[in-house]
Amino acid sequence: MRYRRLGRTELHVSELSYGAAWGASQDRAKFIATVHAAIEGGVNFVDTASDYPDSESALGEALQGHNHVIIETKYQPYDGWDGEASYTGSAEALISSAEESLRRLRRDRLDILLAHAIRTLESLDCFMNDGCYEAMVRLREQGKVRFIGISELSTVDGTHEILKLAVPTGAFDVVMVTLNFLLQNAVESVLPLCAWHDVGTAVMMPLNQASAESGLVSVQAALECVRRHVAAGHLPSNQPYTNLDLFEFLTPYSVPAAALRFVLTQDVSTCCVGTRSPERFRENLQVVDPPYLDTERVEKLRELFGRNQAQIR
Ligand SMILES: NC(=O)c1ccc[n+]([C@@H]2O[C@H](COP(=O)([O-])OP(=O)(O)OC[C@H]3O[C@@H](n4cnc5c(N)ncnc54)[C@H](OP(=O)(O)O)[C@@H]3O)[C@@H](O)[C@H]2O)c1
Repeated sequence: MRYRRLGRTELHVSELSYGAAWGASQDRAKFIATVHAAIEGGVNFVDTASDYPDSESALGEALQGHNHVIIETKYQPYDGWDGEASYTGSAEALISSAEESLRRLRRDRLDILLAHAIRTLESLDCFMNDGCYEAMVRLREQGKVRFIGISELSTVDGTHEILKLAVPTGAFDVVMVTLNFLLQNAVESVLPLCAWHDVGTAVMMPLNQASAESGLVSVQAALECVRRHVAAGHLPSNQPYTNLDLFEFLTPYSVPAAALRFVLTQDVSTCCVGTRSPERFRENLQVVDPPYLDTERVEKLRELFGRNQAQIR
């Protein structure tokens, strides 16, 4: 495992990390085994959130005796997950969420606390000015949080407007940004801004938050996701996008391996991948292998999908 600098935090994080959004409430033992497989593979960074079902409490159990593992968690100031949800942020709710996270994670300090899935310019403005951001800073001053950051909701903000505005303010140490080969526009927008402002970059959804039907987990599922983009008018409805051999050029890599390798070729701090299976996590560890993906394949992926500006799952 290689470790990369997480921007101005000066933390060094494993280039592949574990996204703990899924699985804790389905099969806790398997979730914990997956966390342990990740740690055995050298992973020292885990992403969770106060509203991922059972994730923080299962991590609290799994990470006993693994105090070196850096935990990133989040507070979501909305009453739902979609783009239409109302903003409900308040300093009191943020502080009580952070206290609950500390209790569930069995830590006396949160390594990183993010504003979770900020999705409109109006709600970013609220968060920065209604006491929420100030509360984060206060928690950092009190030593309850080491670093603060922000994540986006890319299904409604495929062009990363929130992060493009938030990073240059200098208010945040870390961002969580969507980057995968189907939605790679952060490479030319958010990543250079983060490099300039020395902000750490944790990538989310490197497999486009795949299901078995659609996403970067198999040729069939990747073709289905491309078909959805074509149907939505995000990609042209002609060859090569309609070809069944569209992803042939990725051989000998599988689609998920190529997708993770693509992210690791970029100037990011860590690529955070989710899985509910220890075997799959071990499989994913095989991609930590510079130069990850050759220039020809990276270029071909850029040529095919570099202009896409929206996320569809
Ligand atoms: N706004 C935000 O802040 C935000 C939003 C989304 C995600 N996140 C964070 O980012 C992390 C990563 O995103 P994600 O988990 O949503 O999506 P992802 O990593 O793009 O995809 C996860 C899916 O890929 C499958 N998978 C993983 N490795 C595989 C492999 N080698 N072969 C086949 N399938 C494979 C998993 O299935 P199995 O479980 O069946 O293996 C899972 O369904 C999350 O866990 C979360 O921590 C943050």
